Amino acid sequence: MNIQWDARGYTDRFSFVHHYGGALLELIGRDGSALDLGCGNGALTAELAERGLQVVGLDASRELLEIARVNHPELMFRWGDATDFDLPEPVDVVFSNAVLHWIDAEKQPDVLKNVHRALKDGGEFVFEMGGKGNNAKIHGALAEAFARRGLAYRMPFYFPAIGEYAMLLEKAGFRVEYAVLFERPTELCGEDGLADWIRMFVKTPFDGVDGAEEIVSEAVEALRDELFQDGKWYADYVRLRMKAVK
Ligand code: BEZ
Repeated sequence: MNIQWDARGYTDRFSFVHHYGGALLELIGRDGSALDLGCGNGALTAELAERGLQVVGLDASRELLEIARVNHPELMFRWGDATDFDLPEPVDVVFSNAVLHWIDAEKQPDVLKNVHRALKDGGEFVFEMGGKGNNAKIHGALAEAFARRGLAYRMPFYFPAIGEYAMLLEKAGFRVEYAVLFERPTELCGEDGLADWIRMFVKTPFDGVDGAEEIVSEAVEALRDELFQDGKWYADYVRLRMKAVK
């Protein structure tokens, strides 16, 4: 995972991540047991449970898991890494929202192998992640600000196209039943919404870089005309939503 979470800030100011995840739940077509892969603060794990699924939340952040356990003491959560996990029993559904793009491209086959092993035959993998072009304006502005300082910007996310990810799923043994890539401009919180978003989610490119705040301000100003409308910041999100069956 390309991030060290500020768990409280994430939960307080970026709740849209799980708020939007609600529509994804509609794709689930099976009852029974479920794994919420990369469950974060457990908000969607709770919605899976409300739909009658016997769900376990799994996450690699101990800080987020602590929040999940406090917010939902009735649910089961366990620590685990998407690239390296195994369940005691296979489940009917693996669900994942806004997690897979944090994992490098070369580790995606490991994730899909684990998900495939974790599912019963006929089980469903229902997920959403950032897709091709996600936050392209934001990363473009940051890359330009880095380049003006003679620095290379290393993209910390993996945002695949439908065809690319469908191929990985098929190689892992899945049948792809549903796939859509769509733009979803996302309103951010407050006057400093975009700067806060960058500080929260874009961390590793700044490792060892002096003058990070100046770079953030420069990128924000370069994006103002395009992403600041009627007093609100909007991030240029593009979602990849898919359902694949074992
Ligand atoms: C996303 O959900 O697409 C996303 C969230 C935070 C950073 C980058 C992408």
